Amino acid sequence: MSDSKVYIFDTTLRDGEQVPGCKLNTKEKIELALQLESLGVDIIEAGFPISSPGDFESVNQIAKTIKNATICGLSRAVQKDIEVAAEALKPAARRRIHTGIGTSDFHIKSKFNATREEILERAIQAVKWARNFTDDVEFYAEDAGRTDNEYLARVVEAVIKAGATTVNIPDTTGYCLPHQYGEKIAYLINKVPNVDKAVLSCHCHNDLGLATANSIAGVVAGARQIECTINGLGERAGNTALEEVVMILKQHHLGLYTDVNAKMLNPLSRLVSETMRMPVQPNKAIVGANAFSHSSGIHQDGFLKDAQTYEIINPVEVGAEESKIVLTARSGRSALAHRLQKLGFQYTRNDIDVLYQEFLKVADAKKEVLEDDLVQLSKSYQKEA
Ligand code: KIV
Ligand code: ZN
Repeated sequence: MSDSKVYIFDTTLRDGEQVPGCKLNTKEKIELALQLESLGVDIIEAGFPISSPGDFESVNQIAKTIKNATICGLSRAVQKDIEVAAEALKPAARRRIHTGIGTSDFHIKSKFNATREEILERAIQAVKWARNFTDDVEFYAEDAGRTDNEYLARVVEAVIKAGATTVNIPDTTGYCLPHQYGEKIAYLINKVPNVDKAVLSCHCHNDLGLATANSIAGVVAGARQIECTINGLGERAGNTALEEVVMILKQHHLGLYTDVNAKMLNPLSRLVSETMRMPVQPNKAIVGANAFSHSSGIHQDGFLKDAQTYEIINPVEVGAEESKIVLTARSGRSALAHRLQKLGFQYTRNDIDVLYQEFLKVADAKKEVLEDDLVQLSKSYQKEA
């Protein structure tokens, strides 16, 4: 059987941009949208057009500019929201309206003071209304992670009947465990009679650090779209990190693939980080500064013998700089010899033994031994010899 495609729905410009301090102007949003298009994402959620005139303008400009990816605008299950989203998306070659409503009892009771039946009706009406403007309508069942499965199945069936072509099952609060999220998707696939008429989508938040694991559990269970952001940016602890799901699907043979060009992952991570003024944590998978750095002696020795002993991804594959051998007081002789050699110093084993003792003194006094320190070390050694 041939592999199935997982659609990548990027929401860096919408859910990612909701992070305090990350707000983007129209020019910045267009620049990032162009890069996301080159990255090969299938859908770009460009914003929430009714939220502000600036966001309307951004979505509208992106809709005019982007030719290959589908441009999506968010709306609540409110007629006016949907109309404004449709207006902003009008120039797009491919447009999607993403509308929805909270379906968990927390949302139904506390947010809407409504009943399940009333919410079901509002969901149906929203999708029907959105279908007046485009054939590509995605429905989100907000807080699906904490929504009773039987009720969720009724909602999914009804919105597909009303015309939704994608149904988003968000774990809005990042509450689910991977097996629970996977089971939720599997339950919907088994119970909803018309589920094959729509794509189920995973939209997972990272409150317990499980967004990526949950999204993968979702696609393994049969969902075929992942909603994610560059660097995992998003509300609170963030969203599923695009670079992580793309590389998991590349590294593991799950019968699934994406059309993302992995070589762009690191350059785009840097661009998003700079534009959104959000530093990337150094130990972040795939795009962190230390993702391909080796600093302990045991790891360095193994890596220098064969990179695959300690690296599952070649950094070139994800557009990162080549792997680094960082020198610290935990480094060994082979790492020291390697770094000296890179600077043009050739030493025998005996030389390295002597130099290593001097190196450890410097390393204990500093967090990292740098190139200048190595040159200094080498000069002093040569003077003494
Ligand atoms: O987390 C969420 O539920 C959302 C929806 C608006 C899709 O971002
Ligand atoms: Zn979200």
